[in-house]
Amino acid sequence: MCGIIGYTGNKDVTGMLLDTLEMLEYRGYDSAGIALCDTDGKIRVVKCAGRVKGLRNLLEDSHIKGNSGMGHTRWATHGGVTDQNAHPHRYGHITLVHNGIIENYKELNDKYQLQDMLCSETDTEVVAGVINHFYNGDPIDAIRRSVMKLKGTFALVIMFDDFPDTIFAIRNVSPIVVSSSEKGNILASDVAAVCQFSKDYFVLPELHTIMMNRESVKLYDLSGEIVEPEILTADWELGQNGKGGFPFYMEKEIMEQPEVIQKTIEGRILDGLPCFTEEEVTDDVLRDCNRICVVACGTAMHAGLVGQVLAHSVLGIHMDVELASEFMYADPVIDDQTLVIAISQSGETIDTLEALKYAKRAGAITLSIINVRGASIARESDYVIYTYAGPEVAVASTKAYTTQLAVLYLLTARMAFVRGILCEDDVKTFILELQQTPWAIRQVIQKRDQIHKMARRVLDARDTFMIGRGLDYSILLEGSLKLKEISYIHSEAYASGELKHGTIALITDKTPVVAMVTQKRLKDKEMSNIREVCARGAKVMLFTRESFEIGGIDEWSEVFELPDLEDLFMVLPASVALQLFAYYVSADKGFDVDKPRNLAKVVTVE
Ligand code: AGP
Repeated sequence: MCGIIGYTGNKDVTGMLLDTLEMLEYRGYDSAGIALCDTDGKIRVVKCAGRVKGLRNLLEDSHIKGNSGMGHTRWATHGGVTDQNAHPHRYGHITLVHNGIIENYKELNDKYQLQDMLCSETDTEVVAGVINHFYNGDPIDAIRRSVMKLKGTFALVIMFDDFPDTIFAIRNVSPIVVSSSEKGNILASDVAAVCQFSKDYFVLPELHTIMMNRESVKLYDLSGEIVEPEILTADWELGQNGKGGFPFYMEKEIMEQPEVIQKTIEGRILDGLPCFTEEEVTDDVLRDCNRICVVACGTAMHAGLVGQVLAHSVLGIHMDVELASEFMYADPVIDDQTLVIAISQSGETIDTLEALKYAKRAGAITLSIINVRGASIARESDYVIYTYAGPEVAVASTKAYTTQLAVLYLLTARMAFVRGILCEDDVKTFILELQQTPWAIRQVIQKRDQIHKMARRVLDARDTFMIGRGLDYSILLEGSLKLKEISYIHSEAYASGELKHGTIALITDKTPVVAMVTQKRLKDKEMSNIREVCARGAKVMLFTRESFEIGGIDEWSEVFELPDLEDLFMVLPASVALQLFAYYVSADKGFDVDKPRNLAKVVTVE
């Protein structure tokens, strides 16, 4: 969960590294640092605890400059948030940065007697010591021999004193992508960072070593043979990475949702029917599986919960939705007729990646829904369906979530068609409703000031509840996570019918409660549950549909009316309303909405 960058070329490397580290800060922002080959051929390191902004200030007073270097922005795993524990780390002839976790670093420290020269508490510095131990003038050989001793995950970017203008890198599980253009050679943790100069890039294959300087980029396999990389092309326009005038990426990404949902579905509808020909997801795959299991984390898991409702109500097929971090320890029942769907924005979440690998070993057919082309989870899957959300920078996921939902609606419709559960006309009707969702989201966005007004009611709250039933409850689980992770208010989504079995004891005078009522068949019962909490003094903020006649709500409540869609499709406008709700609470509290405390955009540690 750190951001790493390496660059060699004709640009001023200091500015290049700092600007790119700011793009990567969403991956972790406890500390930052750079190393570069100075004009005298020496490798210089400047690093500090805190944000990249602090590092930039530190560098203003330094006179180091060059054209080759690397940088790191940290999410602390081993060792506190201190200047000493910031990356890059130096040991002997070696300078390096690292993203991942080395599980056997203590044994390595003992085995190679490194402790006398260690200055930090990190596993990373031990890795530098091991490479230094094996270094005898050949960097490729030293790297290869060292990584065979490491247990755990790593993306290492390494510089050697004897080759100061050359950047080396190697990875295992943690991501590194590479791009080469006339503006320089760049490697980093994500595609958006490397595709600053060219949309063409490649994923550094695991346990392959890359060696790059201003003149060349060479890729070596474990036997030391030079190999050619597989070139991919980013599916978004260069320069699409800025905030576009919004104060935070999150607001921009919320506003992009109608467009990116449209982009995600339009190429997969042919003559009104869902079509996955381009992804080569065959009808046999969708027809022959007798069980479906989703593995995902966080927001992606919440998308899976919506998929579960679709599978049960439209397909009549059982679908499990498992927390990826729990999946392999729950002894899941998997066989060759189980379709395991991994959902992940980054495609690098290690919990999801390991769950997918476990499912593959158990014989499952694997399909992943991913936003980043060529990501690790995509490469591990039998089939991949990409969302076209574009780069999602804010830690709180929004457009990735709704485009994941769009793919799940398409998949449901295709399965219903190939299994003969819905006739062609009914599938077309289903798809037409899906095509209405961008319009519905725009209606919500147009009324966002009303949501902002509702958000002000919870600015000072410590605890809130979000109550609803069925699909509304799934919507609220995601809405509750959004509120928690960016406003730090403890929010609990609760099946409203379950409240009376204990938790309602926590509802007291003026307890803020968000209620979601969008499902026709659940409305009356949900309204009863709302009256129960109102009777105990709760302040209810109700999200419901324009067509619902809502009577008997206590005057303390506010009502936001969502545009009408068929029940199953209300998830999309309702979710965007709750994204905006959480966004305004966090922004009005003065927090850095895009980079919430303790979090990172990509979780590459288990
Ligand atoms: C969502 O807002 C969070 N940032 C987090 O729960 C995220 O959804 C989760 O870590 C999964 O990430 P992924 O989609 O990249 O796998």
